[in-house]
Parts: sequence; C-alpha cells; structure tokens
Amino acid sequence: MEIFGVDIGGSGIKGAPVDLARGDLARERHKVLTPQPATPEGVAGCVAEVVRHFDWNGPVGVTFPGVVTGGITRSAANVDAGWVGTDAAVLLSARLDGMPVTVLNDADAAGVAEMTYGAGRDRGGTVVLLTLGTGIGSALFTDGHLVPNSELGHLELRGHDAETRASVKAKEDHDLSWEHWARRLSRYLAHVEMLFSPELFIIGGGVSRKAEKFLPLIEGVRAEIVPALLQNNAGIVGAAMAARPAG
Ligand code: BGC
Repeated sequence: MEIFGVDIGGSGIKGAPVDLARGDLARERHKVLTPQPATPEGVAGCVAEVVRHFDWNGPVGVTFPGVVTGGITRSAANVDAGWVGTDAAVLLSARLDGMPVTVLNDADAAGVAEMTYGAGRDRGGTVVLLTLGTGIGSALFTDGHLVPNSELGHLELRGHDAETRASVKAKEDHDLSWEHWARRLSRYLAHVEMLFSPELFIIGGGVSRKAEKFLPLIEGVRAEIVPALLQNNAGIVGAAMAARPAG
C-alpha cells in the first residue's frame, strides 16, 4: 500500500509516496525550499507543490517541527509564530482539494518509522529517539508505544534550552569541534537518561550519517546509543504511516 508522506523542515519541505510494505519511498522524493518566514500559508503552498509534483490523490501524512495535538499545531520553536493554534490538518487539506491530511510532530514521525523499519525494530522497554538538526526533536517509546510530543529538546541544560547548546545548529553556530559538541551531547543524554532510564537511544537527523565522528566520544551514558537507519527519509516514512487509513 502507498501513502504520501511530507516532511516539513526548517530548510526544506520534501515528500514522496511511501511503500508501507517496505517502509521506503516508492518514488524519488521531491524537495522545495522552506519559505522564510515559514508562515502557515507559505508552507501550505509548498506542501501542495510537493504533493502535486506527483500524480497523487489520497491520504497525506505531514510532519511539523513542533507540538501537534488533534491536527492543531501548538508550538513553533523554529518556524513562524503564526502556526501556534493553527488547524494545520484543515489548512493543508483545503490546499489539497480535500485530500485527508494527518499532521504529527517530526521527531515522532521519525521515531515510529525507526521503531518499525529501522534501528528500533523489535525493541521493547523504553526507547528514546532524538533528531539532531536545527533543533532537537524527541520521540519517546515504551514497549513500542509512542508517547507523543515529548519535546525533550527543550529540557534545561546548565540554565539553557538544551537545543540551543547541543543541536547541530549550535555546533555550527559556535563552530564547535566534534569533541566539544560530544561533551555537550553527553551531558544532555545523561540528563535524559536520568529522567527516563531508556535502554536505547537512537540518534537521527542528517548528522547520524557521521555517527562515527561523535558517538565514540559520548561518555557517562549507560544506555546503548545507535544511529538511525532510515536517516533523512524517516520523517516522510513516519508521516505516511500515520496517515494510513484504519482497518
Ligand atoms: C521542536 C520540536 C521538534 C524539533 C525538531 C524543536 O524545536 O520544539 O517539536 O520536533 O525542534 O524539529
């Protein structure tokens, strides 16, 4: 079965039909640049452009980089503040001639994809997936069940919002070496471990491709730490999974 998945990111909006049997893209994905400012209207236009690039008419799953409950976006850390309180599912469906749209948090989407097809497959207990990018996204699982909108990227770390210290953007903005960034990441992971005692951390986001540069430098964390396997397509795949019609 194929369902369309779209991933709204800080720099790009990308999507493709997803083959849910394989947990992979059925066609090469299409990407457009995220408009700046990333307002609801501007982003909705881009999502429609991505879907229309394909001859698609059916359910569409969309990730959003903030809290989403019942289709309504509730926070906007790295996108325009106009998203707060927007019924994103209704807005996007209207732009797509009434196609059914399901919206969920981007890290939650990446997490459900990794738990089904990737690094978290068949893993019980508590698992935390963290996406390291512009911000830090989190997906919290207990015995394979998602606790949505965990927002662990905004935990306080030494008096700061953790994502401003340990995200990839923080590494780039402050020109941190891998060693320096790994020390910050170690402190952050140790803090999350103190709160949830996960058996497994899965590290996602584009930087997971360079896992060998920083995972060996992580110290003071008991849990197993592995890179995500689906990497950049996890959000698209997870979005499509969330939009699969029941039954
Ligand atoms: C947002 C999260 C999001 C993460 C990654 C954070 O700033 O609060 O909802 O998952 O960035 O995009």
